[in-house]
Amino acid sequence: MTSQQSSPADSRDPATTGPAHRSDVLEAALPPAVSGATLSSAVAAGGVPASTGGSGAGFPHGGPTVDRSPVIIARGLVRHYHRGSETVRALDGVDLDVRSGEMVAILGPSGSGKTTLINLLSCLDAPDAGTLTVAGRPVTGLGEEALTAVRRGRIGFVFQKFHLLPALTVAENVELPQLFLEQPIDRAHTLEVLRAVDLENRATHLPRELSGGQMQRVAVARALITRPAILIADEPTGNLDRANGEALFALFRRLIAQEGLAVVVTTHNHHLAEQADRIITLEDGRIVREERGCGVGERVTEGG
Ligand SMILES: Nc1ncnc2c1ncn2[C@@H]1O[C@H](COP(=O)(O)OP(=O)(O)OP(=O)(O)O)[C@@H](O)[C@H]1O
Ligand SMILES: [Mg+2]
Repeated sequence: MTSQQSSPADSRDPATTGPAHRSDVLEAALPPAVSGATLSSAVAAGGVPASTGGSGAGFPHGGPTVDRSPVIIARGLVRHYHRGSETVRALDGVDLDVRSGEMVAILGPSGSGKTTLINLLSCLDAPDAGTLTVAGRPVTGLGEEALTAVRRGRIGFVFQKFHLLPALTVAENVELPQLFLEQPIDRAHTLEVLRAVDLENRATHLPRELSGGQMQRVAVARALITRPAILIADEPTGNLDRANGEALFALFRRLIAQEGLAVVVTTHNHHLAEQADRIITLEDGRIVREERGCGVGERVTEGG
């Protein structure tokens, strides 16, 4: 699985298919890291829980109280890919806890298993061995449908490529997950989320009218629109220059402080990783180093 391929939006430009083909438009918005039965759940991940509704709750959702218990508990995670007689040991026994109110950065050389790991943590893929609990739910052994149910309302995704639909406005892009889930759209809430990423004055703009950093902030807003507890980002600064990369990590820090989110982010950039509370380094599918970052947000200590 990779997020490096070209976006489906590249070949299925909704500007030419027209917004009337809603399923085409929605599918084109989806990250290529996810395909087939999991397509809908990728964009819908972090969907509004049935009881939440879409209006009046405002943003932030979580308030200042941070439950410091781990929202992700991974033990002995293994993911091996089989190709003919060859086995790629993409993940080879990873233990990791992530708590609300902290940012964990995952570093490591290309092919070390970063994407494989966060695909497991975000329930887009299932481990071959080990146990995983997400937001209090044991997900080991769950089928696709049950995994989708865990993702919804709990996990938001940000990918390296922004995957914005060029024919939709900023606000409409942000609302796509709710549209897909057939949840009520609340434009006031959308504007609140856009304000959180400093883009409320761009709501009616088209993606082509934005800078790269702004586009990625729209993608962050899209991940937040359904009020997830966990934000997972796979190389979100890969297509950004240094200043915009730093601004994005600063935004993550602010969201953690304001919303009590847990953030897991992969990067090749050690300087950016230092913004996290903890830095995990992977090599050959194993954690080889764990360091304290200099996260300036809420510090979380072992044992809560
Ligand atoms: N679907 C797949 N089938 C077979 N092998 C795979 C698959 N996905 C990943 N791999 C292999 O698993 C290993 C880990 O890949 P992964 O994408 O997790 O690395 P990464 O650390 O995210 O790399 P990068 O920094 O380049 O994004 C690599 O050797 C890769 O080739
Ligand atoms: Mg990767």
